[in-house]
Amino acid sequence: MSPALRTIGVVGAGQMGRGIAQVAAQSGFAVLLHDENRGALDAALAHIGDQLERQVQKGKLAPAARSEILARLRPAADAGAFASADFVIEAVSESQPLKARLFESLDATCRPGVVLASNTSSISITRLASATRRPSLVIGMHFMNPVPVMELVEIVAGQSTSAETIETTRGLAKSLGKTAVLAQDYPGFISNRVLMPMINEAIFALYEGVGGRDDIDTVMRLGMRHPMGPLALADFIGLDTCLAILEILHSGFGDPKYRPCPLLRRMVDAGLLGRKSGRGFYDYDAGGAPA
Ligand code: CAA
Repeated sequence: MSPALRTIGVVGAGQMGRGIAQVAAQSGFAVLLHDENRGALDAALAHIGDQLERQVQKGKLAPAARSEILARLRPAADAGAFASADFVIEAVSESQPLKARLFESLDATCRPGVVLASNTSSISITRLASATRRPSLVIGMHFMNPVPVMELVEIVAGQSTSAETIETTRGLAKSLGKTAVLAQDYPGFISNRVLMPMINEAIFALYEGVGGRDDIDTVMRLGMRHPMGPLALADFIGLDTCLAILEILHSGFGDPKYRPCPLLRRMVDAGLLGRKSGRGFYDYDAGGAPA
């Protein structure tokens, strides 16, 4: 645990926010979890309880430890509670106006010197920082899904992020049991700059009939040892999210190599968004498992 940081504020209790909150509480931090939607907040706390219970059942966690972890997690009814946070991680949905408004209000609520991090996968950290009066303390802290399993945190330095903020964030990532890499604030950072063109190319290969869905995914799983094929991974991430990130790469660089495949666009238009909608390149049951 980072010596100076005791309480981590997490805003947004969706898939990423709840994963970050769980990992922080499991790593010994007091966690304040806030979401505007009270139902989402309650659902996140119940989900974390279930995840920890599964670890108890597998013999990986003592029952007493589960209770201690849950006791460290506090729902925050409003963002005013973040006045006591030592570090804040924002994980609300990927909308720049929404995030910018939130950063402006966190800047007003949080103590001077507190770092404000965004879990954004594609929005400019520099732009979020400019919504605050503490741009040197604003940084990207991009976790991968599923947060409790994936080892990486991509730290993103905006134009004004200070070296001290980067070091504080590195220290926190380490305390959370993650390996941090540093990326500069350009479209897609490192992770999505490399990942999304691969996924897009796999969709082009399907669109042009180079291979079938299973052939393409099998090549990457067995030939390149990826845990999931790119089409299954696109479903896992969400096809709407993949399209949105590709649009940011395409417009941000003005380079046609990032143009989204027309098949991806058509699937998103049809509401085939992958796991979350029950259908994408694959079909899923109500629990999100491949049907
Ligand atoms: N939450 C918590 N734990 C989970 C989990 C979840 N959602 N899903 C799986 N796990 C755990 C399981 O409990 C299991 O743990 P134990 O070994 O302790 O029992 C372990 O992960 C393995 O799970 P499974 O055996 O059920 O399944 P698997 O071996 O097929 O692994 C996977 C599932 C971890 C998702 C694996 O397929 C994988 O690593 N896929 C690639 C995921 C990936 O690339 N993520 C990054 C996406 S990109 C992104 O997030 C950023 C962006 O900006 C788009």
